[in-house]
Amino acid sequence: MENKILDLINKAKEARERAYVPYSKFKVGAAALLKDGTYVLGCNVENVSYGLTNCAERTCLFSLIAQGYNPKDVEMFCVIGSTSNPISPCGACRQVMDELLNPNAVVVLANLKGDYKTYKVSELLPYTFKEIEHAE
Ligand code: THU
Repeated sequence: MENKILDLINKAKEARERAYVPYSKFKVGAAALLKDGTYVLGCNVENVSYGLTNCAERTCLFSLIAQGYNPKDVEMFCVIGSTSNPISPCGACRQVMDELLNPNAVVVLANLKGDYKTYKVSELLPYTFKEIEHAE
């Protein structure tokens, strides 16, 4: 488990180097490890119209789907940033992780100093928005 986590953190670090962050200069990386051993990486991609920025977590999960993988097959999902404590994902990304990831997936939050913490998505977003009631 420990080695698997450390390998995944290294993949997320590699993804972080790809970040496109001319505005914040804050690079974030994400990496998903699938049950078959495949890694899918994601980084944050900013835009001059700031609100259009895509966080690393969403880039990773959206491209995983676009590449034909099933996000429910993600065994471990890691996010890394240069923070004093393990990075704390934004609310939007927590909502997306909650919907797409398997409830048993291990979410690893890390920083560049080697600190990390593991969570289940349900711990990161309690009482999440889950269903739409359709008006008749
Ligand atoms: N960001 C992420 O990619 N993931 C997070 O969990 C937190 C924030 C990005 C968005 C923006 O490009 C930069 O970090 C500063 O907010």
